[in-house]
Amino acid sequence: MTEAVQQAPGTHPVDMERPWPFVPFGANLTVDRAEGPYLYTPEGQRILDAAGGAVVGNIGYGRADVTEAMAAAVRRFGYVVPPFQTDSRLRLVERLRDRWLPPGLDRVHLNSGGTEAMEVALKLARQVHVARGEPQRRVVIGRDLSYHGASIMTLAVGGHAERRAGFEDWLPDWPKAPPHYCLRCPLGLSRPTCGTACVDAIDRLIGETGPQNVAAVIAEPVVGSSGGSFVPPDDYWPRLREICSRHGVLLIADEVMSGFGRTGAKFAVDHWNVVPDILVGGKGMSGGYAPIAGVYAGEELARPLAETGQQLMYYTYGGHPAACAAADAVLEIMEREDMVARVAALEPRMEAALAPLRQHPNVAEVRGKGLLWSIEMVRDRDTLERFPVEAGLSFKVVSEGLSRGVFFYPGGTKVHRDIVTLGPPFVVTEADIDLIGAVLRESIDAAVAACG
Ligand SMILES: Cc1ncc(COP(=O)(O)O)c(C=O)c1O
Repeated sequence: MTEAVQQAPGTHPVDMERPWPFVPFGANLTVDRAEGPYLYTPEGQRILDAAGGAVVGNIGYGRADVTEAMAAAVRRFGYVVPPFQTDSRLRLVERLRDRWLPPGLDRVHLNSGGTEAMEVALKLARQVHVARGEPQRRVVIGRDLSYHGASIMTLAVGGHAERRAGFEDWLPDWPKAPPHYCLRCPLGLSRPTCGTACVDAIDRLIGETGPQNVAAVIAEPVVGSSGGSFVPPDDYWPRLREICSRHGVLLIADEVMSGFGRTGAKFAVDHWNVVPDILVGGKGMSGGYAPIAGVYAGEELARPLAETGQQLMYYTYGGHPAACAAADAVLEIMEREDMVARVAALEPRMEAALAPLRQHPNVAEVRGKGLLWSIEMVRDRDTLERFPVEAGLSFKVVSEGLSRGVFFYPGGTKVHRDIVTLGPPFVVTEADIDLIGAVLRESIDAAVAACG
């Protein structure tokens, strides 16, 4: 038997020879319970979860309404095959249609997580073109510094170098557009004189590929942790909408991270009054209480499939009754407690708490929206030189934060690195936010010092 070298009081012993993650992760913690925005270790240490887990937790942890709704669903049905209707499925879909989704997106397909949902969104785009008699539309244009999931096809359309590494031969070599990464503009331009040329680049790529060959453009409206909270210029999404419509290309908005209130609107696309053809939400949809994500589209995409007898294949656990009950309860709490407005109201406090970091010698940029923020660190502020990969600066900051009682999320793609992302539960107080700013500064100082 492998020796258990670490045992926290009252818990199962930790087997250090065969750690819980398949291979060890850069930072480690045993969590005993969670409440509000806090995690508690078995020793009773309280950790402020400034990342909401993986930018998932929104209503805070330990809400009895949610656990009771889930328990009731499991008591009634252990499992019901996804195409059948249950009370919790119907209630969730009705709530989404009536109170959350952009106008016209009233067809819902439920999955167990963001990757599954993104994969379904890609298949849906392809199936629609086939059903409409345009089978040559197969190329999907994504962007550099993006993440859409860990399956092969979602890796293919994403721009996450580290997660694609080793799989390149399996990934279709489709065009990638430059991101709106204004700190280091890939086009060598600067705001405001750039004219948002990065969105014109998508128009150009569609033209070069041949619009008749392009199925979809896929993008995160506010880029999550891969880029580190890139917020687009205000004209970006309206122009992207126009470009896609003009070419008959479907626009897929990946709001797995930015959706369900995270940026201070129900969905980030709402900031610019844009309705994509396909919207994908996950993470905050159930606040982390249950695995669930959704693909949302309109009648004009559902009809061609129905007319040609095509299914949008479900996965066994898609729309599990307990996950639907959890999501329904979480969204109900968000509505009752007006949490999307709370996120918008807390944005200035977050910005103020992080503002001192803007002067930090090793911080190049502080950026974000709502309660989705990132800090990009550099060795040299003037040249924007990064720390070496081996320094693992983001993980060092995460470890330093944990030792000071705050959890931050490591971001970047390895090539693009030294990013720390913040996505706290919406129930954080102003004092919690101030603490996040103060501890982040101390953690960066300590991590940079450890890099030598
Ligand atoms: C924007 C975005 N899309 C897709 C995914 C994949 O979601 P999941 O990890 O639930 O499969 C993520 C996960 O971080 C994400 O941030």
